[in-house]
Amino acid sequence: MDPLWYKDAVIYQAHVRSFFDSTGDGIGDFPGLTARLDYVQDLGITCLWLLPFFPSPLKDDGYDIADYLNVHASYGTLEQVKAFIRAAHDRQIRVLFELVVNHTSDQHPWFQRARHAPPGSLERAFYVWSDTDTRFPETRIIFSDTEESNWAWDPVAQQFYWHRFFSHQPDLNHDNPAVVDAVIEVMRFWLDLGVDGLRLDAVPYLCVRDGTSNENLPETHAVLKRMRRELDRTFSHRMLLAEANQRPADVRAYFGDGDECHMAFHFPLMPRMFMALRQEDRHAITEILNRTADIPDTCQWALFLRNHDELTLEMMTDDERDYMYRTYAADPQMRLNHGIRRRLAPLVDNNRREIELLNALLCSLPGTPIIYYGDEIGMGDNIYLGDRNGVRTPMQWSAGKNGGFSHAEPGELFAPVISDPVYGYHAINVEAQERSPLSLLHWTRRLIALRQRHKVFGRGSLELLYPSNRKVLAYLRRDADETVLIVANLSNSVQPAEIDLKGCAGLVPVEMHGRTRFPRIGSTPYVLTLGPYACYWFELLQGPADQVA
Ligand code: GLC
Repeated sequence: MDPLWYKDAVIYQAHVRSFFDSTGDGIGDFPGLTARLDYVQDLGITCLWLLPFFPSPLKDDGYDIADYLNVHASYGTLEQVKAFIRAAHDRQIRVLFELVVNHTSDQHPWFQRARHAPPGSLERAFYVWSDTDTRFPETRIIFSDTEESNWAWDPVAQQFYWHRFFSHQPDLNHDNPAVVDAVIEVMRFWLDLGVDGLRLDAVPYLCVRDGTSNENLPETHAVLKRMRRELDRTFSHRMLLAEANQRPADVRAYFGDGDECHMAFHFPLMPRMFMALRQEDRHAITEILNRTADIPDTCQWALFLRNHDELTLEMMTDDERDYMYRTYAADPQMRLNHGIRRRLAPLVDNNRREIELLNALLCSLPGTPIIYYGDEIGMGDNIYLGDRNGVRTPMQWSAGKNGGFSHAEPGELFAPVISDPVYGYHAINVEAQERSPLSLLHWTRRLIALRQRHKVFGRGSLELLYPSNRKVLAYLRRDADETVLIVANLSNSVQPAEIDLKGCAGLVPVEMHGRTRFPRIGSTPYVLTLGPYACYWFELLQGPADQVA
């Protein structure tokens, strides 16, 4: 087994609650998810990432954990989780679970114990306490739409406790080694069950120090290195994925020297792909890629277009954020905290060409692509559902009752199925798209299959090219065996591209979907014409043109 499997993976992010309801209670569950693994496998997915499914008051959709070592009763039993892991592994699909390291629910026994324990005791010190709410004034508020302070008063403890997210989610105190030990025990529990990877939620905030922003502190990195050492001591072929919504240099730090996380989300790139598309100018993308430092050989970027959260604009300048709001979230209802709570298809007004372009970039830029459930069929969102629930609605399997998600009465569903005329389950569903060869679902399958035939996408180097037409984004991906040329038109009109490919003179571009041979590359700029939002992938092959393909 290849220890670097995550470099060649295609990850699918799903929510047990939203995927498939096997019991008819209106809530998705593990047996339902297991029953739908064939669908995930057919899509070409090699790793399935699940949102938190642990016992929880569900005030933050499960990111408020009350028991790390069990399953929320609505989603099933531990035995069913084990059966799910086995079934996924039988299909060569690895599983990636959440390790919410930064905070717990206020219902977690650790917090209940802490608030009753005397100040200064080990139990109290599982969380961060203060007699005033004025400590750490330099620290920003993340959930700015709901929280006014990072401190909340606890009447039992008679102290304030620290929380970077909702006030019902007290932050664990990772400066206390007993906390790190306890989290490592949780990590071991799931890895012992065969889980292949853990997404470390909200990692920049683990430790706190006076006079700092309390983000990306050296002490936090030391904690992560310790977790990694523990992982490597006992387990092999496992992976840690960092959720660090930070600037490029600060995200880079979560790889350490290959001794922290194996993967980290490329948060800076994601919003800039959307920005470049609307500006019809590649600069936002090339600039951020140029600012992305090299990472250790054993590490990998996790690339994504959309996820379960708002499209975060936190790491953009005020001007960039204003631009994004104006162009992608004209209706204030679409905005949340510092971001936009919309799915992929509605963001681009359901323009199939733009959806394809963004996915073609997702699958060809350096890193491992993550597809958010439902985006492969172009599902819509419901901006009226509150918080981020509008992008977590039931998966649309068919045009039948509840979109084929559940037998329950519609009112019993944990959230209504999308039912508007454009994105509703009558118009957008798996069953219909299975039957239509030109559907987005089939197109996505073909894209993933093509990527999976070429290791260069997950492993190769990146060389940006700069044709004089800035509406065109072009780059080479290269490894010892292959060179691939990607050329994308970020605009809504036909564009010419003159690309300097002198370094590849003599090679013959072969378009990878249709295996069409193009004229051999010479010493003059290579000229291509690109349709609106076109994205072409070429393999550059050796040898006389007439011997190729
Ligand atoms: C992460 C999750 C988000 C959650 C937050 C607090 O950012 O992605 O969904 O609300 O952590 O737990």
